Amino acid sequence: MQIFTKINDIKAAITLLKAKKYRIGFVPTMGALHNGHLSLIYKAKAENDITVCSIFVNPVQFNNTEDFEKYPIQNDTDIDLLKNSKCDLVFLPSVKEMYPEPPTEKFNFGTLENVMEGAFRPGHFNGVAIVVKKLFEIITPDKAYFGEKDFQQLMIIKSLIKKLNLRIEIVACPIIRESDGLAMSSRNVRLTEHQRKIAPEIHALLKKCADHSMEFSLEHVKSEVIKSIEAIPEFKLDYFEIADEENLQPISNWSDSDTPRAFVAIFLDKVRLIDNMKIFCNFAKS
Ligand code: PAF
Repeated sequence: MQIFTKINDIKAAITLLKAKKYRIGFVPTMGALHNGHLSLIYKAKAENDITVCSIFVNPVQFNNTEDFEKYPIQNDTDIDLLKNSKCDLVFLPSVKEMYPEPPTEKFNFGTLENVMEGAFRPGHFNGVAIVVKKLFEIITPDKAYFGEKDFQQLMIIKSLIKKLNLRIEIVACPIIRESDGLAMSSRNVRLTEHQRKIAPEIHALLKKCADHSMEFSLEHVKSEVIKSIEAIPEFKLDYFEIADEENLQPISNWSDSDTPRAFVAIFLDKVRLIDNMKIFCNFAKS
């Protein structure tokens, strides 16, 4: 496995690989890798000749300084994990390397960014778009892999690809969960023992929402889930929404969307966790 910290060096290596007609699969990450990330690496390896992973904690996508400062960094462990998973190239740039000047680019993702994460984390998706565009320019992948845990991010990236006319296939990969249902996230390591015990309730409530969609109106299901979240003193709800998974606009009736998905963001003290679940309800809806 080759590790690069300089843009020009990894670009030169990729140029050589492309000259050999190798197909490049790319997994962008912010490190603190877990099995969710590794599932993306395995998929990229299965579908491409060369797999590239980037590790870069992107300062411009954090709207909360403490979240940025406390973001877990474990480069040595990450590199071991990537070696074991037979990743080919790792790109580990510094902030100065990525942003010699503070980036000023502005993107407009319209209604996709006005809701949920976009509404609660102003500037977040602009920062994601800035770094992903730059990483795509450097790595020039054939395919790039993103987890569905950050579902809204995935839709933003798909929109970015269209806006920039890039010929990169975006591959959506399913959420990987711990055995108790908690969605894997780099932020999970920041949970206390007690918070870690109750955090799987987030998944349980999403499941309750999906199961109850068969029986009850959306309004009823939504208000029951919100009540259950608010009944857990350690949880501070940012949002719980049921939205169409294509346009991300919240819906008020099951019949408003053929592809509804439930989305949630909750703080456990300073740690913010997000999760989502597809809802299957292709039947007579109320
Ligand atoms: O999902 C992430 O880890 C980050 O938002 C990404 C896509 C690597 C951009 O920094």
